[in-house]
Amino acid sequence: MNLQICRLTDHPEWISGLASQFHAQWGSYYPHDPLELWEQRLHDSIRPQGLGACFVGVLEELPIAAAKLVKYDMQGREDLRPWLSGVWVHPNFRGKGIGPHLVAAVEDEAHRLAYRRLFLWTPDRNHFYGRLGWQEQQRTRYLGVEAIIMRKDLDSLGEGTGARAGF
Ligand SMILES: CC(C)(COP(=O)(O)OP(=O)(O)OC[C@H]1O[C@@H](n2cnc3c(N)ncnc32)[C@H](O)[C@@H]1OP(=O)(O)O)[C@@H](O)C(=O)NCCC(=O)NCCS
Repeated sequence: MNLQICRLTDHPEWISGLASQFHAQWGSYYPHDPLELWEQRLHDSIRPQGLGACFVGVLEELPIAAAKLVKYDMQGREDLRPWLSGVWVHPNFRGKGIGPHLVAAVEDEAHRLAYRRLFLWTPDRNHFYGRLGWQEQQRTRYLGVEAIIMRKDLDSLGEGTGARAGF
């Protein structure tokens, strides 16, 4: 499988389709936010690099996976930053080891920015992240579900930014 990792700012034509996929995946957490708002927010929030960087996994020129580096991802926990957010693989391509490449791209970006820790929250994917070296930090309730806050210490990543993500 020849997975490429790109930055979404280099392919703005993918924003609309990805926003639809994110809305389908996570829209139930924000029942009052229409698809148009997801698209607008994605469009407005992405940056070429650093906080706001959105990485896209590309197979045969099609965007089939994504992950973002964001400053905050949990209202009320602005003491923690930055966050890995929006980790998503198209349903047809799950279970093929693609997700870890997107996670690695965001980890490398945060490490490059000299952040020593990265955070995420998940309702149920703690085992997936645990396999990638993430540790559970706290359990809480968020957006109506049990949320697990996890963290990754980035000091261990060492030099060679980008190598693990495959680009
Ligand atoms: C979580 C996710 C990003 C993992 O990406 P991936 O490329 O499938 O990752 P992997 O190939 O390493 O497989 C991860 C897990 O999916 C399981 N899996 C295998 N085939 C699968 C399939 N067809 N569909 C879904 N999951 C599958 C694997 O067994 C593995 O389970 P484990 O983590 O409990 O060991 C992806 O499943 C996804 O997009 N899920 C929906 C969105 C989501 O929950 N994102 C995380 C938000 S915190």
